[in-house]
Amino acid sequence: MRAVGVIPARREVALLQHGWPRINAPTEMRIRTIEVGICGTDREICSFAYGTPPEGCEYLVLGHEALGEVLETGPEVQGFKPGDLVVPTVRRPCPHEHCPSCRDARQDFCFTGDFTERGIKMTHGFMTESFVEDQAHLNLVPVDLRDVAVLVEPLTVAEKALAQVWQVQQRLPWSNGIGQNASHGRGAGKTAVVLGAGPVGILGAMALLINGFKTFVYSRSAEPNPKAELLNSIGARYISSETTSLAQFVEIVGNIDLVYEAVGVGRITFDVLKVLGLNGVFVFTGIPPHKPAIPIEADSLMRQVVLMNQAIIGTVNADRPAFQSAIRDLAIFKQRWPDALRKVITGRHPLESYRELLLGKATGIKNVVILG
Ligand code: BGC
Ligand code: ZN
Repeated sequence: MRAVGVIPARREVALLQHGWPRINAPTEMRIRTIEVGICGTDREICSFAYGTPPEGCEYLVLGHEALGEVLETGPEVQGFKPGDLVVPTVRRPCPHEHCPSCRDARQDFCFTGDFTERGIKMTHGFMTESFVEDQAHLNLVPVDLRDVAVLVEPLTVAEKALAQVWQVQQRLPWSNGIGQNASHGRGAGKTAVVLGAGPVGILGAMALLINGFKTFVYSRSAEPNPKAELLNSIGARYISSETTSLAQFVEIVGNIDLVYEAVGVGRITFDVLKVLGLNGVFVFTGIPPHKPAIPIEADSLMRQVVLMNQAIIGTVNADRPAFQSAIRDLAIFKQRWPDALRKVITGRHPLESYRELLLGKATGIKNVVILG
């Protein structure tokens, strides 16, 4: 069957012939791939800075943001049947008995580093016609989310981040503001800033909004632009760093309780860290490529983080509960902002367009490859 992958030893990105997968265990299922989203990680793998083929294979099939349809289930599969829509998780556990995270289905917090990731690290991905997966790594998706479910995986970044924010902020009396009630969400009365307006930033802003945060998005492009329009239409406020300095930004925003970084650029991230508010939490999600060192005001930042009780969290990958929260929240987004949500997917392309999508200039918001 057709697949798109990289051959790192030859520095090639290619349309490959990949063998049809077979069910090998009673809890596995065979899935027909419907759509696969493309992200910065895929593009980075195509620059050969990242990404490793499975042992003994010269190529790695790409793709970790997938939506599929169950074709066939092993005899011990429960809760799934042919025709069901599913979204797979990305990371697979390391083999070590002494890794408490992987033994507890929390490979997103693997302690050994010997995990694998589909389409990224030592396990083939989903940018192919069909794949086999264990039921433990698949999530059922309601049929009415079919047109947007390829966004589940990029939304899990925000879901895992928020799960940690709630845990970390339990250190404070971070209850809802006076006069707010629980139905306004756990972020009611709090201000969040999203850095970056790519898919992870936009989906993150949506998640923050439904949790009640007053949400600002600070991103480079001047207005008007489609991302700003989309964000302003859902009740976030887009502010361009090209036309609004950080000092002016802080004047508009006020005390910042939470920063959700989704830009993957060190300079702006460490600049914004300087304006994080009292008792604030700053979540890093971007994975910048290695670059030359830049100066930061290390002592001032250290003094600030201590004197202001701030928490900085790095987060990667997501567990199954984060996927389930993403599926639940995507349904809320779709009900609240059907047009805006649809606009996050800016292009659907045949597999044959893989070159321009992976190697060409990044355009639009989320680009998707259609397989079926
Ligand atoms: C994926 C994660 C993965 C990370 C690092 C991201 O693009 O969404 O699942 O853990 O890359 O490989
Ligand atoms: Zn991704």
